[in-house]
Amino acid sequence: MKHKTTTLLALATPVVLLFPEPGLSKRTGLFPNTVVDMINVGSLTRVASTSCGQCHLNAHGGVTVTATVQNRVIATGASTSLTLTGSSAIPGNAGGFCMDATAGGFVAGTNTYTNAAGDAITHMASTARSWTFSWKAPATPGLAELYTAVNTANGDLRNTGDMFGFHGANPNDTVSTPVRLYANATGCVAVGDSCSDGYGNFSVLGGASVPSVGNTGFKVEGFGLPPSAPLLFMLSLGKNLGGFDMAPLGAPGCVLRTTLQIQITAATSGGSASRAEGSFSAPLPIPNDPNLRGIGFTVQMGAIDNNSTRAFPLLVTNGLEVTIQ
Ligand code: HEC
Repeated sequence: MKHKTTTLLALATPVVLLFPEPGLSKRTGLFPNTVVDMINVGSLTRVASTSCGQCHLNAHGGVTVTATVQNRVIATGASTSLTLTGSSAIPGNAGGFCMDATAGGFVAGTNTYTNAAGDAITHMASTARSWTFSWKAPATPGLAELYTAVNTANGDLRNTGDMFGFHGANPNDTVSTPVRLYANATGCVAVGDSCSDGYGNFSVLGGASVPSVGNTGFKVEGFGLPPSAPLLFMLSLGKNLGGFDMAPLGAPGCVLRTTLQIQITAATSGGSASRAEGSFSAPLPIPNDPNLRGIGFTVQMGAIDNNSTRAFPLLVTNGLEVTIQ
């Protein structure tokens, strides 16, 4: 790892010396996998070795990056607003960012713009450390992961004296933690939001295909859960069941969305805990009976969080109302 960093810095140094003067385009944002000053900048948002530090020398770490999302689980084709903020010990308010999505696209807001494909977004002027824009869900249902790097700059319009970091629990992490969003199939509607795990990650629960009669492949899937953790799958007939805040149980902010008529225990998949890489998929085959059309049910997942900051360590996803089509 150390060897690799040294090599990259050695490569980047001559580039910086060739183009040291402000007024060029770098500070007005950049997109992943594009060629800037004869180097391909790589993924930018995933790992420190191919991020802003390729040119902003000795600049990694010490940056807390948070994302506030209006609605994490939305219908295919719908949009939701997102505010991204970076903070560090560097004084002032200069900065920049790059974010990309594994699915769906971005709609620019103030001081931001997207690439031609619309799947990456960056700052336009290096005069802020917070940006509000929208994510537009794709036409195909499923999970979307948004990866981001934020550079808190000292405002000298140069590539020195700045610090960059990734979204996630640890301001010094060399690997980015995604913001998880979900595009719901027709017939599936999210209720409320998940409650965060001890690292600040939020899970999502969505329907991966249309719950039509005879869809034997219908399933609901949860992502962003604690890995290798005991999981509780909850299902109740009906919709609009109301919410029960788990504060009396010792889990304030976690809201139960079913009446717990059916409960099944299982386990989430493995992965990194701080990056909430646990997932669970629940197959719910819909019988080929036209009489079922219009019937609704509500599902939710809960998982034990070993790193919980709440007295009762069961966190829950958003609820999901499913109407058979
Ligand atoms: C290819 C080299 C390169 C990469 C990679 C790069 N930058 Fe820069 N950046 C520069 C240079 C050079 C400057 C100096 C001003 C200019 O040339 O526009 C700069 C300036 C800036 C500034 C203004 C600095 C200040 O103190 O006022 C910001 C903000 C910025 N970059 C953000 C980013 C972010 C965010 C990333 C990673 C997502 C990034 N840069 C990656 C080369 C790069």
